[in-house]
Amino acid sequence: MARDQETLEERSAEATLGRAQREQHASHDNLQKRQAIFAYREPERCSGRPAIESVPWEGTERVLEVGCGNGVWLRALRSGHALGSVVGLDLSAGMLEAARAEDPGQPVVGGDVGRLPFPEASFDVVMALWMLYHVADHRGALEELHRVLRPGGRLLVATNSARQRPLDAVLVAALDEVTGSAREQWLPQLNFTAENGPGIVGQVFGEVAVEEVRSTFAIPTPEPALGVMASMRGPIEAFCGETLDWPAVEAAARRRLERAIALDGVFRTEIVAAWFVAQRAPGALS
Ligand SMILES: C[S@@+](CC[C@H](N)C(=O)[O-])C[C@H]1O[C@@H](n2cnc3c(N)ncnc32)[C@H](O)[C@@H]1O
Repeated sequence: MARDQETLEERSAEATLGRAQREQHASHDNLQKRQAIFAYREPERCSGRPAIESVPWEGTERVLEVGCGNGVWLRALRSGHALGSVVGLDLSAGMLEAARAEDPGQPVVGGDVGRLPFPEASFDVVMALWMLYHVADHRGALEELHRVLRPGGRLLVATNSARQRPLDAVLVAALDEVTGSAREQWLPQLNFTAENGPGIVGQVFGEVAVEEVRSTFAIPTPEPALGVMASMRGPIEAFCGETLDWPAVEAAARRRLERAIALDGVFRTEIVAAWFVAQRAPGALS
């Protein structure tokens, strides 16, 4: 009985977090706040190739990006490579609107990675970049990605490491200070990471190649870092089950960021990510 109750509570907590994550992407505002810190990337301290450079593009590929968001990777692909065709798909109407506004020539469609609106073997390359951590049923999603790839076609997946970033440490310290409670965990953990992702993809695709990508940022003012933190508010409140005094959290985080900037001239943080490449086995369709 107690166990059943626990399972129900876990399920309802997962559903609340899932809803908060979907609400977080109702428009592209939160994604834009996270993308904004890339203006402060320090190339000389970064390592690893961007995920889309892992594919030896031949110029004829039919490409699908699932969870394309506001289309930043679709635009990078279209501007840097000749391709047969490129289509983006996303669950969020707000994201699709932003992708269309940024590039009216880019085809994007609404849909769910768990039920892709394409026939079997429609694509040579399928990409799922920083999106599988929003999905509860990884096997179902990966089976769909496998289905729409032609035999011999490539899957490209990217995600972040589970390791805490310096920016997360500032946010957690601010949350502890404002709430007066040092919780063991404030931030929801990703369910699909650089660490566990290869095993999950491998269950459907077999062999998986992995490359780590490390990006370092030197941020000269608190605002871009506070923007990233604000983009995480909804999922944090859903995860910890309380509404937070966010202006107070921001003020505490700002003080910490200002101290770091006064000492070093910048606030340094990093994102450790990884991409995985896998293939649908060559051969006849089943
Ligand atoms: C963190 S954003 C990443 C966007 C883009 N791939 C990038 O790297 O900039 C995750 C995206 O996945 C989308 N998404 C979440 N769950 C989805 C699902 N089940 N099917 C399709 N898209 C989904 C969200 O709406 C959001 O646009």
